[in-house]
Amino acid sequence: MGRLKVSRAEYAGACYGVQRALDLTLETANADKTVCTLGPLIHNPQVVSDLAARGIRVADTVEDCTEQAVVIRSHGVVPEVLDALAARGNEIVDATCPHVMRAQRAAAKLAAEGYHVLVVGEEGHPEVEGILAHARREGDQCMVVGAVEDIPEPVGIVVQTTQSHQKLAEIVEALQARGIEPVVKDTICFATIQRQDAARALARSVDVMLVIGGRNSSNTTRLYEMCAGCCDAVYHIESAQEIDPSWFAHKTTVGISAGASTPENQIEEVVSYLETLD
Ligand code: F3S
Repeated sequence: MGRLKVSRAEYAGACYGVQRALDLTLETANADKTVCTLGPLIHNPQVVSDLAARGIRVADTVEDCTEQAVVIRSHGVVPEVLDALAARGNEIVDATCPHVMRAQRAAAKLAAEGYHVLVVGEEGHPEVEGILAHARREGDQCMVVGAVEDIPEPVGIVVQTTQSHQKLAEIVEALQARGIEPVVKDTICFATIQRQDAARALARSVDVMLVIGGRNSSNTTRLYEMCAGCCDAVYHIESAQEIDPSWFAHKTTVGISAGASTPENQIEEVVSYLETLD
């Protein structure tokens, strides 16, 4: 046992949708099928290289999917991609997170009911592209937030699963200021909010805070930024190898948080390492 008191945030690490995507991918590979993922499965370089070591390749395009089975990531895809894979005869392992599917269905339903669909989210993000494409199948009046000034009534809103309620409230207020009362389908996923709240609460009470996850993971980076506002010593690391023991000189308490795309073994590796420090 080391001298540091290590506490883990109440909610940290792989969310339901990411864990499910990993499990489905490994189950398929274990069933002796050749498998690729359409795009990196998650924003975590260690996981992507572990999968590569098991022969699970990242394909960049539908045409590049030469394996028997193709895994669709938790972000989901535009429906045309599913159609194209089915036409090519690939087995589709659809790991689209059920929460993302809910947003896709809500957008399609609003469009079918004649609403102008506004997606509150990051333009160009694959999840947002997928949600928009599902809505566009039912009606062509869909857009990503940004053009609130131009959207005509009636307006229906869906939200990228990882957005904040604050962002949603701002958009609703901007529409209300124009006299528009939108129909809101709150499709925000609690996994993100729970991780953010728990990380902030812990960061306030420790000397040093470590946030574990891919540098290319936007939810991990957001956790890091939030913690940096609550604690003087916060580090974003991808693995235990990046830890510098001098970070803990004259410190006694360390908090750990991890993004929704960080698997359990990476968290355990960091905790075990900290427990060996003296
Ligand atoms: Fe799904 Fe929420 Fe994770 S939408 S992929 S459970 S962050």
